[in-house]
Amino acid sequence: MQFSMGNGRFLRRKIESSVILVILSKIWVINVLKIARTFAVDLIIEKDMRRLFSVFCMMLLAVSISAKTLVVYYSYTNNCHEIVTSLTSLIQADVMRIEPADKTQKYEANNYAIGTALLNAIKAAPNEAASYPAIAPVSITDLSQYENIVIVTPLWWSQMAAIMQTFLFNYGTQMTGKNVALIVSSHSSGISGVVADAERLVKNITWMGDALWINASNHSNRASLIQNWLPTLNFAEKQTTMNKIYITIDGEQTLTATLANNTSAQALMEALKQAPITYEAHDYGNFEKVGPLEQSFPENNESITTEPGDIILYQGSNLCLYYDTNTWTFTSIGKIEGKTQAELKQILKAGQGNITVTLSLINTTGISNVRSNAENDVHYSLNGQRANSPSKGIFIRNGNKVVIK
Ligand SMILES: Cc1cc2nc3c(=O)[nH]c(=O)nc-3n(C[C@H](O)[C@H](O)[C@H](O)COP(=O)(O)O)c2cc1C
Repeated sequence: MQFSMGNGRFLRRKIESSVILVILSKIWVINVLKIARTFAVDLIIEKDMRRLFSVFCMMLLAVSISAKTLVVYYSYTNNCHEIVTSLTSLIQADVMRIEPADKTQKYEANNYAIGTALLNAIKAAPNEAASYPAIAPVSITDLSQYENIVIVTPLWWSQMAAIMQTFLFNYGTQMTGKNVALIVSSHSSGISGVVADAERLVKNITWMGDALWINASNHSNRASLIQNWLPTLNFAEKQTTMNKIYITIDGEQTLTATLANNTSAQALMEALKQAPITYEAHDYGNFEKVGPLEQSFPENNESITTEPGDIILYQGSNLCLYYDTNTWTFTSIGKIEGKTQAELKQILKAGQGNITVTLSLINTTGISNVRSNAENDVHYSLNGQRANSPSKGIFIRNGNKVVIK
């Protein structure tokens, strides 16, 4: 069909008004979908035009998601830089690194004399701009586009590194009303002084949760620490990665799953924030591995014809991992990502008897590389707590991952 002038003007007007609508709204994604639906109903758009419009929608979607969270950090010896690299592999965020105006400073020289002097100057007059060391111009000066801000900073003499303090002194007022989280890197000192500095410099915000402390002894384990910490935060809108769980089979292979958008999946997520869940599953009906979770979750039952990879809650307390099809009334919990039916059958050991399944917010495949100074033959939970009489689950012993059935 030819695209008439009348339709062209109509389309242009629609695009213009839609762009304004999208810019005005904070919930871009929802608006994009609404606009797309309006277009679909109102117009029969020529094929090329439709393609163009899809690209336009995708661009808006990409911008809207990536623009929501800002990670702002300072790093002198790159520990915080490494933390930010791990963090941004898990959440979608813009990243800004703060640099001092004078990059030649050796803060550690003469027993950290320069670092100490900078902090003493701030302490003496914390409300004076002149007390704060100059920083280089920042790449993002308008923070209004962000709803979530994660601050990542080193600790200096039990306080927030002076360079990050300058940034927060200059830009902290722009954070009013936002959700803010804090990660602190130190060699070994506790972080309460840094938290106090943050609270002094950034006011009228909502802390998303407790600050995360990463020190020299657990820096190499930062990815797991961050993965554990993220689900405890209240982002303005949950990040796309926050609906993922990991499913480890017999401690050998870990599958990634995306959770469904219902109260059952949310309740499972909440339970996993407390602790991983391990259960025994057996083959049933040549289409699934099923087993009791030993706790109940709300049901959202509907008639479902399963596909391989579907994760289903049955009667509120049994979890089924599907490797074939079945039609029944039960609750969708989510879907295992990116595996063919043949791969699923092999990983889930279809038809080969019981397996031990661990549901977790941590990807345990990386755990085998954990080094620990822990005493021999002592079990530690995935959260790093000593487990005196470990029962079912995945633990770390002598630096290795072990599964107790
Ligand atoms: C000036 C200065 C003072 C420091 N003071 C402390 C301290 O009191 N306690 C501590 O545990 N670490 C201290 N550190 C070490 C840093 O907190 C630690 O190495 C951190 O991981 C550095 O992060 P970065 O590599 O991102 O700069 C200090 C480092 C510097 C440069």
